[in-house]
Amino acid sequence: MKIFLDTANLESIKKFNDMGLLDGITTNPSLMYKEGGNPKDAMEEITKIIKGDVSLEVLSTEYSGMVEEGKRLRQHGDNVVVKVPMTPDGLKACKSLSSEGIPVNVTLIFSANQALLAAKSGAKYVSPFIGRLDDVGQNGMELISEIKEIFSNYNFGTQILVASVRHPLHVVDAAKIGADVVTLPPGVLDKMMLHPLTKIGLGNFLADWEKMKSGNPDVKI
Ligand code: E4P
Repeated sequence: MKIFLDTANLESIKKFNDMGLLDGITTNPSLMYKEGGNPKDAMEEITKIIKGDVSLEVLSTEYSGMVEEGKRLRQHGDNVVVKVPMTPDGLKACKSLSSEGIPVNVTLIFSANQALLAAKSGAKYVSPFIGRLDDVGQNGMELISEIKEIFSNYNFGTQILVASVRHPLHVVDAAKIGADVVTLPPGVLDKMMLHPLTKIGLGNFLADWEKMKSGNPDVKI
């Protein structure tokens, strides 16, 4: 399963990229707003740092504006994936951009039918927002299972990009289902690395080494 980081924060992107964890990045207008500054500069930087796919979202809500913006966003790099909303115009823009070889991520997916239609329109990724479904009392992970089953039945090339991830258990469940990608807020990726037994175990190893050194100060590795 590929791991994308769901942020426009350059510090976090560099931090996790240096660990070799990142296969790509997803952004949206809210994430850009959160970082402040000029979003164009952020887009430029992110597409340089990350080799994999970087989703940049259009702001227009009608077809021709989406296509125009998508082409402009694509100028930031060959790794740019144009993110369009799951609307009739978004699907038309998806079809048009995909036909020209520009990869598209259809975002704000909340049903299996929406995912099916986005795949039919040629999307490279569909982004079901599982956390926001959980928030309104619907099981987001069940949607991932449904989409996985549908895409497998028909061999769609479209990848399932699990979005709106809230905690590490979401990641385990998405991986068990066989989702292609999860996009993670930096905080979730931080939590995935931690386990209290790792911390305790390391503390014990170091304490024992100190004891050995107190009996033999010359000991080294
Ligand atoms: C996906 O591409 C979106 O940027 C993101 O996952 C939305 O998540 P949220 O529900 O935490 O805003």
